[in-house]
Amino acid sequence: MLILGIESSCDDTAAAVLKNGETLLSSVLTSQDAIHTRFGGVVPELASRSHLESIVFMVREALSRAEVSLKDIDLIAATQGPGLIGSLLVGFSYAKALSYASDVPIVGVDHMAGHILSVFLEDKKPPFPYISLVVSGGTSSIYLVESFSDFTLLGRTRDDAAGEAFDKVAKLLGFAYPGGPLISKEASKGNPKAISFPRSWLEKGSLDFSFSGLKTAVLNHCNREKQKNGKLQKPDICASFQEAVVEVLVEKSLLAAQQHDISTLVLGGGVSSNPRLREYMQQRCSEESKELFIPRPVHCTDNAAMIALAGFHAYKQGQDCSRDSDVYSRSVLV
Ligand code: KG4
Repeated sequence: MLILGIESSCDDTAAAVLKNGETLLSSVLTSQDAIHTRFGGVVPELASRSHLESIVFMVREALSRAEVSLKDIDLIAATQGPGLIGSLLVGFSYAKALSYASDVPIVGVDHMAGHILSVFLEDKKPPFPYISLVVSGGTSSIYLVESFSDFTLLGRTRDDAAGEAFDKVAKLLGFAYPGGPLISKEASKGNPKAISFPRSWLEKGSLDFSFSGLKTAVLNHCNREKQKNGKLQKPDICASFQEAVVEVLVEKSLLAAQQHDISTLVLGGGVSSNPRLREYMQQRCSEESKELFIPRPVHCTDNAAMIALAGFHAYKQGQDCSRDSDVYSRSVLV
């Protein structure tokens, strides 16, 4: 079975061809970072216009690299939500049109399911059940995953997502968008213990996150330092900020595993390409005798391969989608 995956939920236009739900034949992506960087964040209207310009080429490129044509495709899987409505509409409408024109079934995929299952694109696959930490520009969530279609939300952010916090702190330090990779690069030159930024644990036993207080703490620190010394120790600020985010993400994931008596943890989402998060999670999982599975960075950030994979499993479970279906901005996996 050949599945064509299409992803356009935010600022990456991506397409992929997956065989039988596990062999990736192609995965291509065009990033809009160059368009949005001068605005310090994603401009929704520019994002949807750019998807419109790229979508046809991305799908053609994915088919061509997989050495197949549209008539070989058995299923089209496209991101239906959550995300920016204008961006989603471009990819999902194009997918519906392709489905109609080629008489191939279409399945709408929740973007979060893609991140939760993206680890199955790797050779080393986790057993069910597992605890999934999904951390990206729009989400910080912990799920209990019991099968390819059975996800229970255990905790989520009450304000900023982890990636959003990285991007906002990067902006206030004068780095370009997206700031996460730039912060982690700068952090590698700094001391994570230099500044004691707050860890927001919330109520005892809570698996929710909150990163807006940490962001304000960084802002206050920067204002104080500028008044005192006229300049900022950016490597130390980045390392200390990153450590505060990573520690909370890791400890809450382990708490979820403990609360539900689960011995396997899985990471997903753009922030899980952060080297310190990967290292710290690995270290703590070893200490707690948990097994950790992390996708390669290219499968952590937005991609269409994970959408094809999640779509394949949703379709196998009998999920189909009518060509009247619409996109949605908030995840249905709650
Ligand atoms: O999953 P993703 O590609 O897509 C969206 O959420 O749209 O995640 C993008 C987010 C951005 O906020 C970016 O700054 C963050 O992931 N990110 C990182 C790193 N690489 C990407 N954050 C921290 N460290 C990184 N190395």
